[in-house]
Amino acid sequence: MKTSFSGIQPSGVITLGNYIGAMRQFVELQNEYNCYFCIVDQHAITVPQDPQELQKNIRSLAALYLAVGIDPNKATLFIQSEVPAHAQAGWMLQCLSYIGELERMTQFKDKSAGKEAVSAGLLTYPPLMAADILLYKTDIVPVGEDQKQHIELTRDLAERFNKRYGEIFTIPEPRIPKIGARIMSLADPTKKMSKSDPNKKSFITLLDDAKAVEKKIKSAVTDSEGVIRYDKENKPGISNLLNIYSILANKTIEELEQEYAGKGYGVFKADLAQVIIDTLTPIQEKYYHLLESSTLDEVLDKGAEKANKVATEMLEKMEQAMGLGRRR
Ligand code: TYM
Repeated sequence: MKTSFSGIQPSGVITLGNYIGAMRQFVELQNEYNCYFCIVDQHAITVPQDPQELQKNIRSLAALYLAVGIDPNKATLFIQSEVPAHAQAGWMLQCLSYIGELERMTQFKDKSAGKEAVSAGLLTYPPLMAADILLYKTDIVPVGEDQKQHIELTRDLAERFNKRYGEIFTIPEPRIPKIGARIMSLADPTKKMSKSDPNKKSFITLLDDAKAVEKKIKSAVTDSEGVIRYDKENKPGISNLLNIYSILANKTIEELEQEYAGKGYGVFKADLAQVIIDTLTPIQEKYYHLLESSTLDEVLDKGAEKANKVATEMLEKMEQAMGLGRRR
């Protein structure tokens, strides 16, 4: 069985973008791959986090992974900071990275733009992500479009390591969905939907109730043409909504264009809101149930144990290859 690895930051409530771009794929992959799903709390602290909020968000994300359908009997779910090999391997890969290539990362440029003080961790975020992936001999990394550049860097670092110190790493491939790899903001459809956006109307979270979903979809930015047609360049708002609808209702864009021919944005938006509510309701029911059960800690304990075993083995290979410590 081939291996799949992916991670999500516990840095806020998970959005519909995270769900469509990443989590939905996870559920399918767990049947075909040896899957690792990580709550990357060490990545979250590259920007300031309130400790209590972070604790809450870690638990919440663990419950959401299970609520969307991750089966702990098939996949390994764990918290990054509970597997110390990630930070250790991350350091080694930092020493292999060039400042120039890290400064060229779009996520670093976006997150540091206009800031007076930026943490060193924000710059060295990608080698830690590379460590996450490479420690597990990962074949595929299911992610949204925005992570593609980080996976390319991971491949570069793996190849650089293999060439300098011996072939120990598998070179991973990104797995990016054909549609839905980049869900856009509801307030500005030229920007990606992001949980760190200060405008709360720009994203739908997996925990939004029906009223909030209706309100946000109703206020989603569209255009004045009044025609429901996919045209990413000229009608980015409607095109984004069509994308979301198409994926969640399992209908093609063409089917939707036909279904809504001659109908206004109001009808379309009301139906889309309902489709989203129908997707979120069963997830939320499971989520609230899980938060109160003891299952969560059992799953995370078991996950950390398995991940530690696999990751430590690779870390030892890395240390030996680089000549760290003493030869055993
Ligand atoms: P994060 O937490 O920002 O996002 C989690 C996943 O959601 C995807 N995503 C989206 N997909 C479609 N449309 C959007 N608007 C959208 N916003 C987010 C992301 O592409 C991602 O797949 N660096 C990673 C976390 C990470 C990781 C890893 C991922 C750390 N180590 C190892 C894979 C493998 C991140 O910030 O994701």
